[in-house]
Amino acid sequence: MAAPSPPNDPATDPSIQELIAARPWLRYHAMDGLLLDGVPLAAIGRDVGTPVWVYSAATLRARYQALTNAMTDAGLDIHVHYAVKANDSRAVLALLAAEGAGADVVSGGELLKARRADIAAARIVYSGVGKSAAELRLALAEGVGQINVESAEELAMLSSIASAAGGSVRVALRVNPDIDAGTNDKITTGRATDKFGIAYDDAVALYAQAAALPGIEPVGLAMHIGSQILGLGPYREAFGRIADLVHTLRQRDLRVETVDCGGGLGIPYRNEPAPSAAGLAAAMKQAFHNLDVRLAMEPGRWLVGPAGVVLASVVLVKQTAPEPFVVLDAAMNDLVRPAMYDAWHGIVPVSATDAIGPCRPVTVVGPVCESGDTFARSRSLPALAPDAIVAILDAGAYGAVMSSTYNARPMAAEVWVDEGRWSVIRDRQPIEALWERERLPA
Ligand code: LLP
Repeated sequence: MAAPSPPNDPATDPSIQELIAARPWLRYHAMDGLLLDGVPLAAIGRDVGTPVWVYSAATLRARYQALTNAMTDAGLDIHVHYAVKANDSRAVLALLAAEGAGADVVSGGELLKARRADIAAARIVYSGVGKSAAELRLALAEGVGQINVESAEELAMLSSIASAAGGSVRVALRVNPDIDAGTNDKITTGRATDKFGIAYDDAVALYAQAAALPGIEPVGLAMHIGSQILGLGPYREAFGRIADLVHTLRQRDLRVETVDCGGGLGIPYRNEPAPSAAGLAAAMKQAFHNLDVRLAMEPGRWLVGPAGVVLASVVLVKQTAPEPFVVLDAAMNDLVRPAMYDAWHGIVPVSATDAIGPCRPVTVVGPVCESGDTFARSRSLPALAPDAIVAILDAGAYGAVMSSTYNARPMAAEVWVDEGRWSVIRDRQPIEALWERERLPA
């Protein structure tokens, strides 16, 4: 087991200026304040209201291209299946589809969202530990390119569904390599004790069984060991174990044409050293270059995380000891990552004048009635007056998709910034939506 990471020491937090300098898509303009791709975030906050998610199309495109270029530069011909769970906005899916990405989906809902964004069914991989019979039937009816099967039980279910439908489906076995990715416990997925994948030692026998099952065409192996992975070591180990399996399967005359290397590549939220896409490419190449397999991957966070912010307004500043509470109008129901994973997100004022004011440590919270509704503690921020807008950074992945209406708070709006213009891509949920599907019992 990897040691739990030490809590972040606020004394080593990056400054507002350092946070912005590390994100070239953001910059301050003396008059207009914080700009995302040249668009003033203050104007979006003012016109659409807060909380509001804002995504940069240019950053998304640049990150997709950087990832695929890193793979190409390493001599890898890799199929990128964007992990829809990270951000399933239609605009995001459509942009990535236009760039050439397929999709990795984990529910019938994600599958339909991907199809609706014109991602070809053949470019969709369906993963997940608990696909229902109805979802498997939907996947077959849509003609998804590959189903990543996670258990013997699922394999049997899929075989009977596919053969009853008179067809066959391309299947990869998702193997649990029993590697600790060294990330947050709640998002580690590749240890033997995690619910995901087929036990490493059972994989060969199950693959042979799959080859004999009606309706199943085993085409390869898949793995995914966790998310927000900040070292290449666990990847190298896991890839090595998967490559060994490919050899063993082939020795038994079982056909293996593809390996899906999963997602998980981490990003710097604070100032953590994070592996590069080139580093990941090199690890893939080292493990698989002489195996003649078609490589695939399922990145989510790395592509979309940095491309989004959530804007929130200061409701009030509650002057208490030992440090004041800055109460925002965004809460854990909007961005749950700090409450759920103790995640660190940069928080910066949108006004350029605010941003250069003298800083003091504050606790930044939302209005939800839980102490866990805390975005940051002992965060060094300048004085912020009520209605001042702040941007919470790196909120493009696992942000809006994880939001809820807890405390009867409607889902926030989403805005798209592209080529100097912005537009609303999802309206704020109307308050009536919170009760319109309710009725009193008969
Ligand atoms: N493939 C599979 C099978 C996955 O389970 C995941 C994420 C991915 C790909 C994409 O991983 P990524 O490249 O985004 O790390 N809500 C958490 C993250 C949960 C990730 C779950 N699986 C968070 O906010 O940190």
